[in-house]
Amino acid sequence: MLRFSILVALLAPVVLGEADHATFLNCSRVPFCTRLRENVPDASSLFAADIGGFTEENNNIVHVPLSNSDGESLVLQISLLEGYKARVKVVEPDSSRYELEYVLDGEPETLPSVNKLSKDKENKDKSFLKCLSTINQANQSLTLFPADEQYYSVVVTSGPPFTVEFYLGETLEVVLNAERLVMENTNESIAFTFTVDYPGATALYGLYHHAHNIVLRQTGNGFDPFRLRNSDVSFYELDSPMALYGSIPVVYAHSPDRTSGIYVHNAAEQWIDINYTSTQASTYFIIQGGTLDLFVLFGPTPQQVVRQYTSLTGVAHLPQIWTLGYHQCRFTYQTQEEVKEVVALMDQYDFPMDVIVLDDGHSNANRYFEFNPVNFTNPEEMLRNISVNGRKAVPISDPHIKIADDYAVYTGAKNKYFVKWANGSDYEGVCWPGLSSYIDFFNPEASDYYGSWYAYDKFNGSTPVLAGIWNDMNEPSVFDDTTEKTFPFELVHYGNILHRDVHNIYGFMHVRATHKGLILRDEGRKRPFILTRSSFAGSQRYAAIWTGDNTAGWGYLQVSYSECLVANILGHVFCGADIGGFFDNDGVLTDELIQRWYQAAAWLPFMRGHSNKGTPRREPYVFAEDVRNVLREALKKTPLFYEYPELLEYDDHLLLGSDILARPVFESNVTTSPLFYRGGSIITRNDIERPSTTQMVNDPFTLYVNLDSNEEASGRFYIDDYTSFDYNDFNDYLYLRFIYVPESHGVRIERLNGDGLDFNISIRRIVISGETPEGKPYNCFGNKFANISSLKTRTAIIAITCEIDLDRKVFFSD
Ligand code: GLC
Repeated sequence: MLRFSILVALLAPVVLGEADHATFLNCSRVPFCTRLRENVPDASSLFAADIGGFTEENNNIVHVPLSNSDGESLVLQISLLEGYKARVKVVEPDSSRYELEYVLDGEPETLPSVNKLSKDKENKDKSFLKCLSTINQANQSLTLFPADEQYYSVVVTSGPPFTVEFYLGETLEVVLNAERLVMENTNESIAFTFTVDYPGATALYGLYHHAHNIVLRQTGNGFDPFRLRNSDVSFYELDSPMALYGSIPVVYAHSPDRTSGIYVHNAAEQWIDINYTSTQASTYFIIQGGTLDLFVLFGPTPQQVVRQYTSLTGVAHLPQIWTLGYHQCRFTYQTQEEVKEVVALMDQYDFPMDVIVLDDGHSNANRYFEFNPVNFTNPEEMLRNISVNGRKAVPISDPHIKIADDYAVYTGAKNKYFVKWANGSDYEGVCWPGLSSYIDFFNPEASDYYGSWYAYDKFNGSTPVLAGIWNDMNEPSVFDDTTEKTFPFELVHYGNILHRDVHNIYGFMHVRATHKGLILRDEGRKRPFILTRSSFAGSQRYAAIWTGDNTAGWGYLQVSYSECLVANILGHVFCGADIGGFFDNDGVLTDELIQRWYQAAAWLPFMRGHSNKGTPRREPYVFAEDVRNVLREALKKTPLFYEYPELLEYDDHLLLGSDILARPVFESNVTTSPLFYRGGSIITRNDIERPSTTQMVNDPFTLYVNLDSNEEASGRFYIDDYTSFDYNDFNDYLYLRFIYVPESHGVRIERLNGDGLDFNISIRRIVISGETPEGKPYNCFGNKFANISSLKTRTAIIAITCEIDLDRKVFFSD
């Protein structure tokens, strides 16, 4: 019977080019979503806040009792947080709901309240923000604000229904609206709903991961709510609210003059309806389990709101330099000879490449941490071969563990470290290796056990050339259509946690374990590189992401920018998409599309060519010479820039740092692909061509000085050892400012920060773009070799002699 079900799963017909809507449900086929989507509570079930009954509990949390005429009680918990944020929970008085762990990057600092102050009159420390509360009995409202900075406030009005309003100054930014607050609490369901309004907002962003434009569209009228439920969806479709691989429950609300946001700290399945009216935008959340736990981010600029969010869930550590270069992948290179051949051909055709990715073919029939004993007989030799030009290998390692009594990873975990049924037996599901069990990363011992397999002495054949890890299928994926291709929700994790309540962080927990494993493996000396398909708020601390199994097509090229731009503003800056589309349907991938895709991909931080089994080979050297030339140019761009995109503009534009604007071509038959340097900027580039980025680390740089109309320009430059955590632990980095000096056509260098005084930084060339006094564009090339190593003083000047050249470079003015 079991064999039969495996066969059925593996042979299930897949219609090419269309997501499997029979398997992946829409709201109308999910009982809690259907029940609650149109639900409007009647008057007796609306909750009122007992304003006078508020108390201040431990850790500066203000509790306000809530009740309705049906006799139900809830508690509203509010805390003001350091750094222009607030947190609100709504729970049953005796709540046994799961409270999400692991995700926050430390417990946010709460601000003390007036009650505490009145008990503690000596506390006169004005430098510390204090929260005051005022009660307005007439209007039945309670206002909380930090005493020393009365710039934002939280106002609870009694209702029914009560509201919680979040003000920045006088401006109402966000409202938790209880008109549709429902908390089911039966044996069958603990689903709940609530509405958040954003007065004045004209556009909402966020809710990664959907194949959708960056602005979240209005739902309803036949368009499902956006669903967040990490899912392994083949042939995912464009312009769709369908849940994909990751879930980041963050919404940014934007109006022309301000931006605010919310983060819903909950890892259960969610459905979110979006509504825009002429005066506001709204989100209606329908959540299957866990706690109603909401963080509010006051903004008011997009940059501030992003910083407020990442102050909660953390930022990615800097990557090693080689991770920013080109990664070549294929499902799957079958033999070590094939791997070596790909590397040799990349060299032969002069394509830079930093990483050869080893999909499952390298493994022993998907027994991860074991090389295939027939086709990969000498992994050490293969890895040495790969490393000749400074390249690395990244193997795949999935969380399903093949059930086999001669597989040590399995036997060491059996009946101990796997996810279980309620009766305590190991769950078994089918994935790539056939019948498998799944590591329960919620068990700290299981997590460490899994991480320990990355050690060089346990993963036989591995060497430091196997420099990063690819964690795939970690939504988790199970080949079972009856559970929408994942775990049944009744599975139980360590600590008696129902899978229902933590589904969306299973992949987060996987990469967390891998991250720790790699830190231990490399004795803390290297920044781990992990690529993950499943993601959640906070997984940026551990891993880079890619957008999963996309499809060849112009629309997929464009949506890769939308997906990564959204991920980017939600903290996941290290993002990319399979170049060319993982699935290639019937020759859609034309020469024109592959060229445009490589050109566009060069501007996303993670750049990987990948393709499915059975598709035509796609390595850059397989194309005709004219195409190869374009791909080579694109690949050579990849490692030139070391600044990350940090600000969102449009779906199809990418702003790298503040000075470079890329607008790749996403349409057929378009011939220009502009790249802009901001007028007034100085861009540092390494223009020397090498087979891999690791071979570029000692190369001299070229400064591109782009004068603005005042003949001024400046730029910033960061450098460290590209590998270790010394930048963090010992300030071993340099952060410099370059300022153009018109008198000498030179550049003054100032050290802004960092103690890394021993870096060898050389400038070999300065290219100045500007206008002559008559308004004619010119370029000035100064071939000046200046060494600014050992920058012991705070400033240095490189003066150059400028030769005017009328060959204009593209730039835009500020
Ligand atoms: C999944 C991944 C894909 C990979 C394949 C085999 O479909 O998304 O990138 O090639 O599994 O490991």
